[in-house]
Amino acid sequence: MDCKSRSSTCIAPINIAVIKYWGKSDEEQIIPLNDSISITLDTDYMFTKTTATIGPEFTQDSIVLNNEQGSGDGVRFQNCLSEIRKLAASSKHSSTVEKSTWKVAIVSENNFPTKAGLASSASGYACLVFTLAQLYELESHQSELSALARRGSGSACRSLFGGFVRWFHDSQPCIARPIAEAEHWPELRCLVAVVSNTSKSVGSTEGMRRSAETSKLLEHRVKHVVRDRIEDMKMAILEKNFVKFAEITMRDSNQFHAICLDTYPPLFYMNSTSQAIIQLVHRYNQIRRSIKVAYTFDAGPNAVLFLEQAEISRFASVFYSVFGSTPHDQFFRGKVPDLLDPTE
Ligand code: PMV
Repeated sequence: MDCKSRSSTCIAPINIAVIKYWGKSDEEQIIPLNDSISITLDTDYMFTKTTATIGPEFTQDSIVLNNEQGSGDGVRFQNCLSEIRKLAASSKHSSTVEKSTWKVAIVSENNFPTKAGLASSASGYACLVFTLAQLYELESHQSELSALARRGSGSACRSLFGGFVRWFHDSQPCIARPIAEAEHWPELRCLVAVVSNTSKSVGSTEGMRRSAETSKLLEHRVKHVVRDRIEDMKMAILEKNFVKFAEITMRDSNQFHAICLDTYPPLFYMNSTSQAIIQLVHRYNQIRRSIKVAYTFDAGPNAVLFLEQAEISRFASVFYSVFGSTPHDQFFRGKVPDLLDPTE
């Protein structure tokens, strides 16, 4: 390899939306119809790891995702790359300007099921943008990178921050910003139950497009529901009010899947095991005489369960007695994308 080539390796966490983003007002720029709120998980468990290498000898951009060779000409990948290159080309450092013209080789992998409704595109594009920024030695602020990650996948703009994060649909530029650090609510934990690791049949871009075209319920949500819900969720988080947080989380997940069903032809992301998990959570909360556990499902059948630390062992043993396996404990201490030592 030419001695001029250089590499950078980073990891980035997934984020799980408790107020969902579904539908765009501008598909090219990826501007959402409504604000969303998410929680960034810790990078100890589920993360994307990306290595980017640039060199004058590369003749084309390339990407290998989970050991599979991609063409490197995907629109979103190229959108992120060209935005980063624009920043690099305007750098005051001549070496960065020179590198902005070189082609790039990306190798990226997720340590969890990809495209299965577990936010792999969020960690993937956040990691891509962060790794490239490190590689070009850009002095960009996290919010600038948030806007760039958004061009890859909307939800990725939230993964640039740790803790509790809100993505604003009408900010200029359209970016996410933190609501509270993860340390703000250390008792809050989440469990991930992988129901299926197969990729979804309708991706989120196509699903959103179909819902926006056909679902009146999505229109109703955007006009009459989500604004108040965002404010209520923000308060629940700031007050660390688990009951309020949990109820809004479940209602929002349910409304998102109702919109999927209201889409014509309908989108089915959950399966019968997902529904059994929902029933179990409601029954459990009924027996505990308070809301102790909340579920949320993205565009896939896998469950993300929120609960407070004190409830974990009791709920995990009930879950085990019903499903014969325990969900994985995920921490979120708020790690943001991280530059790895190249020897790791
Ligand atoms: O960012 P995308 O295009 O992968 O869409 C994500 C959509 C949901 O995961 C269903 C909701 C969200 O806000 O993350």
